Amino acid sequence: MNSGVTPEGHEIGRAQLLQALAAGVVPSWLHNPILLKPTGEATSQVVVAGKVAGQADASTYFGLRDKLRPVVWRAFSELARRADVVLIEGAGSPAEINLARDDLVNMGLADLVDAPVLVAGDIDRGGVFAALAGTQLLLEPAQRARIQGWIINKFRGDPALLKDGLAMIEQRTLVGVRGVVPFVHDLGLDEEDGVWLERDLVRGTGEITVAALRLDRVSNSTDMDALAREPDVALHWTRDPDRVATADLVVIPGSKSTRADLADLERDGLVAAVQAAHARGAFVLGLCGGYQMLGREINDDEGVDGPPGRSRGLGLLPLVTAFARELPKVLVNTYGSDLATGERVAGYEIHQGRTVVDPLTPPLLELRGRPDGCTSADGRVMGCYLHGLLDAPGYRRALLNRVRAARGLAALAPSSQLTQSERLDRLADVLEHALDVPWIESLLERRSPLPAHPELDRIAGGPGGVDAIVRELFAPAATSAPPLARRAAVVLGVRDSPADSFPSGAFDPADRDVVRRVILARRDVRQFQSDPIPTAVLREILSLAHHAPSVGFMQPWNFVVVTSRGTRERVKDSFVRTNVAELAKIDDERRAALYAGLKLEGILESPLNVAVTCDRRRDAPFVLGRAPMPDTDLYSTCLAVENLMLAARAHGVGVGWVSLLDPALVARVLALPEGVVLVAYLCVGYPVEFRARPLLEEVGWKARAPLEGAVYAEQWGCVYDWGSGPPDARGA
Ligand SMILES: Cc1cc2nc3c(=O)[nH]c(=O)nc-3n(C[C@H](O)[C@H](O)[C@H](O)COP(=O)(O)O)c2cc1C
Repeated sequence: MNSGVTPEGHEIGRAQLLQALAAGVVPSWLHNPILLKPTGEATSQVVVAGKVAGQADASTYFGLRDKLRPVVWRAFSELARRADVVLIEGAGSPAEINLARDDLVNMGLADLVDAPVLVAGDIDRGGVFAALAGTQLLLEPAQRARIQGWIINKFRGDPALLKDGLAMIEQRTLVGVRGVVPFVHDLGLDEEDGVWLERDLVRGTGEITVAALRLDRVSNSTDMDALAREPDVALHWTRDPDRVATADLVVIPGSKSTRADLADLERDGLVAAVQAAHARGAFVLGLCGGYQMLGREINDDEGVDGPPGRSRGLGLLPLVTAFARELPKVLVNTYGSDLATGERVAGYEIHQGRTVVDPLTPPLLELRGRPDGCTSADGRVMGCYLHGLLDAPGYRRALLNRVRAARGLAALAPSSQLTQSERLDRLADVLEHALDVPWIESLLERRSPLPAHPELDRIAGGPGGVDAIVRELFAPAATSAPPLARRAAVVLGVRDSPADSFPSGAFDPADRDVVRRVILARRDVRQFQSDPIPTAVLREILSLAHHAPSVGFMQPWNFVVVTSRGTRERVKDSFVRTNVAELAKIDDERRAALYAGLKLEGILESPLNVAVTCDRRRDAPFVLGRAPMPDTDLYSTCLAVENLMLAARAHGVGVGWVSLLDPALVARVLALPEGVVLVAYLCVGYPVEFRARPLLEEVGWKARAPLEGAVYAEQWGCVYDWGSGPPDARGA
């Protein structure tokens, strides 16, 4: 199973990530409410609402179906509210009659939401007509009636040859064929899983032999796709020890069960083959589980990754990996650079173990300003947790050129590969020709309204919502979670007439230092904890905001405190739409990928939102000082926002300004009268962290400009000479 991470830090299948991108929406757990990741022959990790809920064998999993139904319903109804069309991809076959009773991902879901169904059959595997007719035969009459059309997929050859068969299947089933989709070669889109890796296979014919170990439990096999498309690469997905021992580059990919795969590699002589390849001078790269295998030891005494025990690794990197139940799964989109070449890299981490590297070992990468992964002293063995490492064109080419140099081959320039959105466009063009699109549109127009499921709404909307369901999924006797560490909230009380407590001149150095620290430590916050803000703290923050300067003492601001989930969901909707539209404007693919991975709001996670408005009519018609610069009322409101941010920071409360919104829509949602404008929409709450630097600086989007360029002397553009400014006597 290939999975990935959403901008909200949730794990979903790569297929769903890709589908979200194809649909132009930000990927979310709603697109994949349940993800089963097989970890052994009979067990799977069950990921619900983007988080690991537990491990289950098939019968345990089926026992959970009733508990999972409200989660699935919640995801669907939420999407239905947001989107014009929700396309459900059924998992497995629609006619898995042994599982039909408890089905909630295929025809069962179609029943739940009353959706029409199109059935696609894969003609490349053969037997497509029998599969379609057989599917219809095996379904119960009510489900049979849902099938509105057949689609033949992956057809090679002359469509004329298919004509009679299509007519016959329509006659027999009384259901129309709504498209024949040709086989598309080298589509290059992420595979849903590694099932296609059941036997050795080769991709490409280049002079550099790359051996990717075909692990039985391979995960994120998509890591190898971009490498396989390089013109000088022949990529062998293989379990052949000779092939591995003679390769130029060996890659050990991720694994769903590292120790089990490692044991199989040992048994099949592949551990020795990798060691032999290295001894011969080949390069070795381990990704995620493969990285763990390259170390000295993997300890899993609690049986988190499979049966409990310890395994000896390949010993090619000086590191040890440990699994422990209390270590949370790492799920993160991240970015940085390769330390050897400076090439930028980006991707995602999904893993459970923690790896400790010998401190004298050089790191491979720098990710978000921290060293990551490691490399051997000779530089030929490398490993890290970063999936997507090989998707970075510069890094990939630099690595291949090192391999080429070792073989005495000249370096090549980075290849230009189609971007993912270009590949999706290619597929869309094929589908547009192959499918009866007007008919599909008419099917959508005939849609019936969504059925009501008040009981499911009640369960999914209960205390704690979906999170509570997930927490209790495997623990019927719920253990109460330890209380979150409470911050000491020292509330000074509101000092409305404070003149006597303030000095008339400068504050003393310690007070000045506090002001400085608060200003420098303020950060725009997008990740919040859900703890409420004590009323007294909120009052203090808004009171200090209210003490901002304003033109003519107009005080044009109001603070609309929004806690209602419904209102916030409508604002979040506006964010999602605006964000997607912004994403579409970025041409540079790497920048777009960087942008898509950024978390830019915390509307729902924060315990409350504050909309700061400016009443432009206040004190009309005469506001002292405003007439010559009519926008000074808006500037004044911004100063209230700034006061709010600094006051909040002093209390350890974070504020995130969300401007990716449709202001007219938010004004309607908040019932703002004519003449009252929205200046700032703020998410307010205790943050997960206050970053040391602005997020946009950390990700390399933009750095803080030097003060020198911001200060001019006398006229725009004239450099201010600090040396000739007023003497320093007063500031000393
Ligand atoms: C007017 C204004 C609008 C902003 N809008 C957004 C936004 O929609 N989403 C977001 O993530 N950050 C937004 N920000 C935050 C800025 O990106 C952030 O302030 C900047 O990167 C500097 O980081 P710092 O606030 O942590 O110092 C906004 C900031 C301002 C002042």
